[in-house]
Amino acid sequence: MTARIIDGKAFAARVRGQVAEGVARLKADHGITPGLAVVLVGEDPASEVYVRNKGKQTLEAGMASFEYKLAADTPEADLLALIARLNADPAVNGILVQLPLPGHMNADLVINAIEPGKDVDGFHILNVGLLGTGQKAMVPCTPLGCLMMLRDHLGSLSGLNAVVVGRSNIVGKPMAQLLLAESCTVTVAHSRTRDLASVCRGADILVAAVGRPEMITGDMVKPGATVIDVGINRVERDGKTRLVGDVDFASASEVAGAITPVPGGVGPMTIACLLANTLTATCRAHGLPEPEGLAV
Ligand code: GUN
Repeated sequence: MTARIIDGKAFAARVRGQVAEGVARLKADHGITPGLAVVLVGEDPASEVYVRNKGKQTLEAGMASFEYKLAADTPEADLLALIARLNADPAVNGILVQLPLPGHMNADLVINAIEPGKDVDGFHILNVGLLGTGQKAMVPCTPLGCLMMLRDHLGSLSGLNAVVVGRSNIVGKPMAQLLLAESCTVTVAHSRTRDLASVCRGADILVAAVGRPEMITGDMVKPGATVIDVGINRVERDGKTRLVGDVDFASASEVAGAITPVPGGVGPMTIACLLANTLTATCRAHGLPEPEGLAV
């Protein structure tokens, strides 16, 4: 079998188009322009690229973009003061503090200082709790993007066996909560799981988010399964730097029914979902109906 490729790039463009339409309607009907503030502390080159892309795509969607670049040695109190200002600013509907933060900062403290309704990353402890109890939450962007692609490909997910490999707060845990809310039977596996291959082979939906290059091979995939590869790993091969996922695409795509590639799968969906979350946060803040299909 050769798997169908789930085209995240095309899907993300569609989501961005829906967001842009929602933004245009908010402006025309209510005079509201959603605003997203992104805060970057330090000079991590990968983070700088992300932040630049976020700013560009925010403007393309018709939203206002506010960028704050702070020096790596900024005192934590100064960052908290900035967050307090953004929390109180009505022009700012979404706040994202780029992770990782420098070592002298307490990331939990910083994230939990963000007003939960503006927490477009869905990392605030209140949003984590709301998601875990099946209430309306801001949902982390990467798992939200994965869920959108799964729903689009499979329709109802009810009763399917889902295995999430990885237990991070950013992807693995919220992904498991979202799949549970879709009535999947969910297993969270990780690097210490015994006989990972046989656990994975039970999965109708296999989400790989472990951060280990090409760890999930074709022999670990159930024939016909839907495979979502969240990994973005830089590897040196034949003297060149290449981007690979957590799934060995060549062998897995021979067995799976559908699979996301790397690059061009989950990656582009993350920023699209950040824009979707910013629009959702804006609508909620103003008590307006939320755009269909962009939130859970
Ligand atoms: N660093 C890597 N991914 C993310 C993300 O989704 N949100 C934030 N805030 N930082 C990140």
